[in-house]
Amino acid sequence: MSSSVDNPFFARVWMYLSRHETDAIQRLRRENLAGLTGRVLEVGAGTGTNFAFYPPTVTEVVAVEPEQRLAAMAHQAAAEAPVPVTVSGDAVEDFALSLGGAPFDAVVCSMVLCSVEDPNSVVRQLHSLLRPGGELRYLEHVASGGLRAGLQKAADATLWPRLLGNCHTHRHTEQIISGAGFAVSGARREWTMPAWVPLPVAEFAIGRAVKS
Ligand SMILES: C[S@@+](CC[C@H](N)C(=O)[O-])C[C@H]1O[C@@H](n2cnc3c(N)ncnc32)[C@H](O)[C@@H]1O
Repeated sequence: MSSSVDNPFFARVWMYLSRHETDAIQRLRRENLAGLTGRVLEVGAGTGTNFAFYPPTVTEVVAVEPEQRLAAMAHQAAAEAPVPVTVSGDAVEDFALSLGGAPFDAVVCSMVLCSVEDPNSVVRQLHSLLRPGGELRYLEHVASGGLRAGLQKAADATLWPRLLGNCHTHRHTEQIISGAGFAVSGARREWTMPAWVPLPVAEFAIGRAVKS
């Protein structure tokens, strides 16, 4: 079954946000891609913000971005990237099916596992697309504890996913990654804005997860 992503409102919002990122987010993007080598699959590339940060040791990036307005921006970013990048308009679910499991050296997810319909299934697919020893690099906002967890659950039950491209703020993404058979290493949490800011997407997880 083919999945389609059509989010005109979110696409406009994301085009604006990705042009106005904080230094903190850009630093995390750089860290998430540091040291990568070989062929990389990037899931849900958005406007292609990551492309500028790939190190020269990456020989090829295959990026999927199914929202056509964002994919058009990603194509432009690919043309200026320091490494070869091709952009496909597939949803990741379809890409995994059509590719039939060709091995990548790494898969990159940033701020995308919140938006896919079934993150457990997608992370298992990503695992199957990696070579043994290949890495999943992730930079994802994740479920918080305490009062913010309540805020996140309320956001997820109301307008947040509908307005923002199916983004869910209270996902236990690190557990999902471990549950798919990855060995997580070098992971940590980081706040990208002061903890008092009442936004449900302030706490990020950044990490590396290896396919054994
Ligand atoms: C919040 S944006 C993040 C974009 C980019 N990863 C970044 O770091 O700037 C989430 C992206 O995931 C994409 N997306 C949503 N569902 C997807 C799916 N099933 N397969 C691939 N990408 C998807 C959206 O179109 C959007 O571009």
